[in-house]
Amino acid sequence: MPTFTDPFNQMTPGRKMTKRELVRALRLNIAAEEDATSLYEAHADATDDPLAKKVLQDIADEERVHVGEFQRLISILLADEDKWLADGAAEVNEMAAEVAAEEAARGQGATGATVGDLTEG
Ligand SMILES: [Fe+2]
Repeated sequence: MPTFTDPFNQMTPGRKMTKRELVRALRLNIAAEEDATSLYEAHADATDDPLAKKVLQDIADEERVHVGEFQRLISILLADEDKWLADGAAEVNEMAAEVAAEEAARGQGATGATVGDLTEG
């Protein structure tokens, strides 16, 4: 049984949203899109029907586009949003360079890493 997200979570009802509330609502929308992406990809991975797999992955990819649309809207509404996102990206880039250097020192390529077996065994 699906449960639907409260569309007015964190909002006082009976009036229009403030800009800050709007941004929070947009972040909630992003979370809903990510949840949908995960759901559709899990279903695509769980079927061997080629048409169902293709359609589910296509819809999952469309949800990823929606994430980009919501994120872009937030970036337009908040002058500092892109700075925070860039800071996060820079931190990960720095760590990626460190890991690549460590792998190079050990003689492993970037493709040598895996996530391993995530199933219970
Ligand atoms: Fe969507």
